[in-house]
Amino acid sequence: MQEKKTYPFDVLVVGELNIDLILNRIAGFPEMSKEILAEEMTVTLGSSSAIFANNLSILGSRVSYLGKVGEDQFADLVCTSLERSGVDIGNIIKTPEYQTGLTVALNYDNDRAMLTYPGAMNDLRIGDISEQALDAAPHMHLSSVFLQEGIKPDIVEIFRKAKSRGMTTSLDPQWDPQEKWDLDLAALLPLVDVFLPNEEELKHFTGLADVEAAIEKISPYCNTVVVKKGVKGAVMWHNAQLVHQEAFLNEDVVDAIGAGDSFNSGFIHKYTRGAAPGECLRYAALTGALNTTAAGGTAAFASKEKLLATAREKFKYQE
Ligand SMILES: Nc1ncnc2c1ncn2[C@@H]1O[C@H](COP(=O)(O)OP(=O)(O)OP(=O)(O)O)[C@@H](O)[C@H]1O
Ligand SMILES: [Mg+2]
Repeated sequence: MQEKKTYPFDVLVVGELNIDLILNRIAGFPEMSKEILAEEMTVTLGSSSAIFANNLSILGSRVSYLGKVGEDQFADLVCTSLERSGVDIGNIIKTPEYQTGLTVALNYDNDRAMLTYPGAMNDLRIGDISEQALDAAPHMHLSSVFLQEGIKPDIVEIFRKAKSRGMTTSLDPQWDPQEKWDLDLAALLPLVDVFLPNEEELKHFTGLADVEAAIEKISPYCNTVVVKKGVKGAVMWHNAQLVHQEAFLNEDVVDAIGAGDSFNSGFIHKYTRGAAPGECLRYAALTGALNTTAAGGTAAFASKEKLLATAREKFKYQE
């Protein structure tokens, strides 16, 4: 009898890494040649893929991260933050050529202005995704394609590489800041087991505002598609059938930053454990809603115990 292969990790996350420097309660909007003061500052791990990895690890999956940072103190902050949540950083590459990516966010008057230096994020390339890293997990997740200039031209090849090694795969494309939406979905999606866009992204990819019509358009070449719709929940296309999932109602939302990444973490956590697609979807909606109970993308995911307590209290969810 053939022995079942064992892996040190459940999921390999390939993605962008950056620091968020958030300034709150600022005395006015900055103007050239003037100096103003902010009363609050937070320096924290940013990036959608890192929030996903962090929360997936808290849920109990064994996660390895493959990304690129500089050789600076922000790199140390990225690595220690991930390690603290149990994420393996053995595949994080440090380059002397660029500094670690950074987003400065200025929160002012219920809105925010953001300025990003991509730095080492743009320098991650297909050649950095080693066979050793791919062979250490049965599943690869990739997110934020349009923020990773070094990855984007080879995205189809990267997924082909993962599939040829027998991995299952998932992709969250995230927003295209250039709004070109130039991914060859017909070539890419057959290699993606779970495609996880939100409804706006899917609309831009397909040119169709109606989610069901958009899913139908890509259905000839995709596997499972899960479309996130904020407070309206999500819809999944699987085995030629549509499954609708309502959002778990949260009456006191703190913010929805990272809700999509937390939703993905819930889906992939169940998926890699072989759960039925409907169960993956329901758990994803729960983890997306849990995300909105605390500030930012990771605060609600401080520990599994705390997360489950909130799930019971706020959403009457029993594991
Ligand atoms: N206010 C909310 N209350 C309950 N659940 C929510 C709320 N907002 C989001 N969710 C859940 O989280 C999921 C993902 O959120 P959303 O649709 O905002 O993803 P997204 O647009 O990809 O977000 P992101 O900006 O994090 O990438 C939703 O499908 C829903 O299930
Ligand atoms: Mg998203």
